[in-house]
Amino acid sequence: MGSHLCETLLEQGNEVICVDNFYTGTKNNILHLFPNPHFEVIRHDVTFPLYLEVDQIYNLACPASPIHYQHDPVQTTKTSVHGAINMLGLAKRVKAKILQASTSEVYGDPEVHPQPETYWGKVNPIGIRSCYDEGKRCAETLFFDYWRQHQLEIKVIRIFNTYEPNMHPNDGRVVSNFIVQALKGEPITIYGDGLQTRSFCYVSDLIKGMVAMMATPKEVTGPINVGNPQEFTMLELAKAVIRLTGSKSQLVFKDLPSDDPKQRKPNIDIAKKELGWQPTVALEDGLQKTIAYFQKTLNI
Ligand SMILES: NC(=O)c1ccc[n+]([C@@H]2O[C@H](COP(=O)([O-])OP(=O)(O)OC[C@H]3O[C@@H](n4cnc5c(N)ncnc54)[C@H](O)[C@@H]3O)[C@@H](O)[C@H]2O)c1
Repeated sequence: MGSHLCETLLEQGNEVICVDNFYTGTKNNILHLFPNPHFEVIRHDVTFPLYLEVDQIYNLACPASPIHYQHDPVQTTKTSVHGAINMLGLAKRVKAKILQASTSEVYGDPEVHPQPETYWGKVNPIGIRSCYDEGKRCAETLFFDYWRQHQLEIKVIRIFNTYEPNMHPNDGRVVSNFIVQALKGEPITIYGDGLQTRSFCYVSDLIKGMVAMMATPKEVTGPINVGNPQEFTMLELAKAVIRLTGSKSQLVFKDLPSDDPKQRKPNIDIAKKELGWQPTVALEDGLQKTIAYFQKTLNI
């Protein structure tokens, strides 16, 4: 997602410093930006302090796919918590506005549907997803404490499932999994009965929401849900991917991983009101662009 954000910020005439330890990101996604004199890259792990002169910070650093964030769960919590402390410390020193890419995972396995920002969530603090969910919840706490204690200008968005070209083929998230399996003609893996739902936002919509949030007046702190409220079952998604790729892949069903939420859908009333934002890209259109990217990447 960060590569798309860098592109948009450069297009808008900003100077951009991209900070990444390339844990899940790859330089290939930003290679085309290297010749731009307004773009710089620093290989840096946000769990360590960083000293720079900036006026806006977008804190997106954190592996987002369960496979990646569960690979080294201690590092995942450190990235969210130490990373937030270090980025908030930087924002405090240079009086920068700072945006946190939080997540719908703060709602856990929700009892309220769709989820409004006022819902406090149902999160398991000791499960295999907790390093991500609780790390992100703690990061939100830190943002609001820096706002209350140090009057920092904070912006917190809660991002719901977003898909995009530039995703890693082994990313392990459902949209990329289904597309890669369909393109390779491999069985498409459905966890559980496939009736659990998710809402999928295409990256261009998401980035517009993120940038609109950064541009809000000081009193708008969030948290604000940013995502697409259109809901699909995993079976519907699999069938759409099979149709759009023309694949002959069959569906196979496996056990649901623990703490997998049964449903997720944002209430975006506040985003509509405060940001004048709502998604415009239909699932089918976004899938087509993402499929085209994977066809090129996988050479299929
Ligand atoms: N994509 C989604 O559906 C989604 C949903 C909710 C929230 N988010 C949040 O948005 C952000 C971006 O998500 P994404 O989908 O692009 O994930 P991603 O895993 O593709 O990208 C995360 C980026 O952070 C970098 N990173 C990880 N740990 C780091 C560290 N310690 N120091 C510096 N860089 C580090 C990675 O190398 C990568 O470039 C994440 O914070 C994620 O939690 C994403």
